Amino acid sequence: MNDLAGKHIVLGLTGGIACYKAAELCRALIKSGATVQVVMTQAAEQFITPVTMQALSNRPVYDSQWDAREANNMPHINLSREADAILIAPCSADFMAKLLHGRADDLLSLMCLARPIAEVPLLVAPAMNREMWAHPATQRNLAQLAADGTVVLGVGNGDQACGETGDGRMLEPDELLLDVIAFFAPKPLQGQQVLVTAGPTFEAIDPVRGITNLSSGKMGFAIARAAQEAGAHVTLVAGPVQLPTPRGVTRLDVTSALDMHQAVSAQLDRAQVFIATAAVADWRVATVAEQKIKKDSAGQMPPLQFTENPDILAMAAKSPRALSGALFCVGFAAESHDLLQHARAKRERKGVPLIVGNIGPATFGKDDNALLLVDEHGTHELPHASKLTLARQLVADIARRRQAVH
Ligand code: CTP
Repeated sequence: MNDLAGKHIVLGLTGGIACYKAAELCRALIKSGATVQVVMTQAAEQFITPVTMQALSNRPVYDSQWDAREANNMPHINLSREADAILIAPCSADFMAKLLHGRADDLLSLMCLARPIAEVPLLVAPAMNREMWAHPATQRNLAQLAADGTVVLGVGNGDQACGETGDGRMLEPDELLLDVIAFFAPKPLQGQQVLVTAGPTFEAIDPVRGITNLSSGKMGFAIARAAQEAGAHVTLVAGPVQLPTPRGVTRLDVTSALDMHQAVSAQLDRAQVFIATAAVADWRVATVAEQKIKKDSAGQMPPLQFTENPDILAMAAKSPRALSGALFCVGFAAESHDLLQHARAKRERKGVPLIVGNIGPATFGKDDNALLLVDEHGTHELPHASKLTLARQLVADIARRRQAVH
C-alpha cells in the first residue's frame, strides 16, 4: 500500500550497530511511497557506508555541514525545509543528549535544531545497550525530549549485539514503518477508548470437536489498527484466529461466545466506542461431553442439545452508557443475501445507531471487501477496497458521527 505517498522523510542515522536495520527501513519507507533523504553522522559511517544508503534511497547521502553541493552551502536549512518529518533511526544515547541540549556541531544535529519546529516533526528510534537505556541520564533525556515535542518511538526487548538481553534494541524496520504510517494518520479518535471484537468463536462439542465459522478476523483486526492509527487506545477481543496483533493494540484472546461476552463485559465500562465485528456463534452445545463422543454402531449421530448464547452487541447497546450517548455501538451484519433488508432489520433488533453490512461468503478470509453503512437516515456505500482502506474510512466515519453527537 502507498501509505506514505507524497511524504518526504529525512532519515538520520547515528552511531550504533542498529544502522544495519536502517537499510531495510529505508527500503520499507520507499516501498510505502515516501521519498527518503539520508543524513549520516561520522559515527554512523563506522557501521554502514553512505554508498549502501545512497543506493537504497537513490539520492546522494549528506554527512557534512560543509557540503559544497548546496549552492548556498546550507544543507541544514535546505534539507530540513523540504522534509515532512525527520526520523532518526537509530538514535544513539549520545545523539539524544545532543538533541536535548540543542547542540549543533554536525549536520544532523544542526539540521534538527534548525528545522521549523511546528512544521517538521522529529521522530527518534532509540537504540542502545540495556544499561545505557536504563541509565537515569538516558531516561531523563527521553522525558525531556518528549516534553520538547520530539516523538520518541519505543525500543524493542531481546538479545543485544553486545551479548546481553533486555530493553534498548532498535525497533524492527516493519515496526518503525507502521509507527511512521500511524504518525501521519489523522487523529479523530485521539485519546478515546475503542473496544473491538473480531474473528469467529469456537463452541466445544467434546474435547476434540466444536462448532465454528469461516470468519478470518481480518476486518476486525484492520479496524483495530485503523482506530489505533486514529489515536485511540484500542482493546481487541479476538476469537481463535491466526493473525498478528496490530501494533499498539491490546489483545485479549478468547475461544467461545461466553468467553467473548465476559471479556467484553469487563472492558465495556471504559469504552467510548464498541465495534462488534466478531462472527459470534448464536448457539452453544448445552452440555460439552467430557470425553470424545464415539461413533455408535447404528450409524446415528448422537443428538446435541443447544443453548442460545448471549448477544454481546445487543447487551452493550442496551447498557445505560450506550443509551446516554457515552458509548457508541457499531454492529456488523455478515449476510449471504438481501443485505440491505437484513442489515436494516438487524440494526433495529440490536438497537445500534450504525450497522455495517457485508456479504459474508464473498469476503471471509479475503483481504478486500465492500461495506454498506446503514443508519437511521439511510445507507452509504464504501465501495470495494482493501480491508485496511475500508477500516480507515469506517473509523473516520464513526469519529464524525461521535463528533456530531458531542
Ligand atoms: N453479535 C454479538 N453477539 C452475538 C451475536 C452477534 O455481539 N451473540 C454481533 C456481531 O458481532 C455483529 C452483529 O451482532 O456485530 C450481528 O451478528 P450476526 O451474526 O450477523 O447476527 P445475528 O444476531 O447472529 O443474526 P443472524 O444469525 O440471524 O443473521
